[in-house]
Amino acid sequence: MSFSIAGTGSAYPARRVTNDELATIVDTSDEWIRTRTGVKERRVLTTETLEDIAFEAARRALEDAKVAPEELDLIVCATIRNDYITPSLSCMLQKRLGATCIAFDINAACSGFLYALDVADGYFARKRVKKMLIVAAEAMSKMLDWTERATCVLFGDGAGAAVLCEGDDLLSLRLSASGNAESLRIPNLEGKSPFSKLPAREPFVYMNGQDVYKFAVNALCRDLEAVIADAGVRQEDIAYVLPHQANIRIIEAAINKLKISAGKYLINIERFGNISAASIPILLDECRRKNLFHKGDLLALSAFGGGFTTGACVLRWSKES
Ligand code: ACO
Repeated sequence: MSFSIAGTGSAYPARRVTNDELATIVDTSDEWIRTRTGVKERRVLTTETLEDIAFEAARRALEDAKVAPEELDLIVCATIRNDYITPSLSCMLQKRLGATCIAFDINAACSGFLYALDVADGYFARKRVKKMLIVAAEAMSKMLDWTERATCVLFGDGAGAAVLCEGDDLLSLRLSASGNAESLRIPNLEGKSPFSKLPAREPFVYMNGQDVYKFAVNALCRDLEAVIADAGVRQEDIAYVLPHQANIRIIEAAINKLKISAGKYLINIERFGNISAASIPILLDECRRKNLFHKGDLLALSAFGGGFTTGACVLRWSKES
């Protein structure tokens, strides 16, 4: 026994920042950003907190699943930057939702939602839970150097959630990790220890774009091939691919390599940029609310990012549209 997706939800900040607006802050252009990444605009936190959008995504997912917060047995949040180191975002949500279950956060950067699904699979297999909430929420705007054009144009803020119940949606899942702080890192804030002899580091995203690009293209193609084979289905059988939304060119590389037609790749990067762990659950929720998925559809999810980490899975969608 594993899980089925009973409901989905998403939320993002009200403030929209277009490429043209960014071009007034750093030396860039709408044309460069669109053609190199596929991003046209992103959402950025202003007066909302990360917890606010995480809560709203969770509330919508619970409503969609017709599950009350008191029924939850577990809340797992995937985030790389909660507003607090402790309490965790999941504990804050537990309180705000009025749930009483256990709650903890995981940090697997852009692969966080897939890592959370794997955690879920274990809890359901051990029969420790009957109903569970996953929320992936990211405040990328708080970790960007807004004078650095190579990174600040890529990311956005948002939250996506899924409520899981007992079921058999999950056909296959693979995770990987390969430690690498040279190509992609976000240093934490240093404390003020009078004993520290280390230089303070800027707490901003550093990325060697081309290193990450090569890693990402390889990971996306390799992981999709592997989880589809593990599921015992053909690439042609996949109804939709939900790839991490990091760069349209990375997705196009998978389209060129795999035997899945281009129209099956779901894409919303133009409106959100890269929202790390929240990218895939937001995409899932948007498409589900458009009634794109039908009972029995095979969905392939694939994410890659900081760590480096990767995660991919095949789900058989079982929810009525
Ligand atoms: N506007 C205009 N010019 C720019 C900008 C910008 N915003 N950013 C960089 N440039 C310039 C560079 O300075 C460089 O100029 P030069 O040739 O005069 O030196 C030129 O554009 C090309 O720069 P590259 O870095 O080579 O551009 P590239 O085509 O590699 O695209 C990008 C950069 C978009 C970052 C790409 O490498 C990429 O998508 N990498 C993968 C990112 C990713 O997948 N991240 C996922 C994980 S993120 C996470 O986990 C937190």
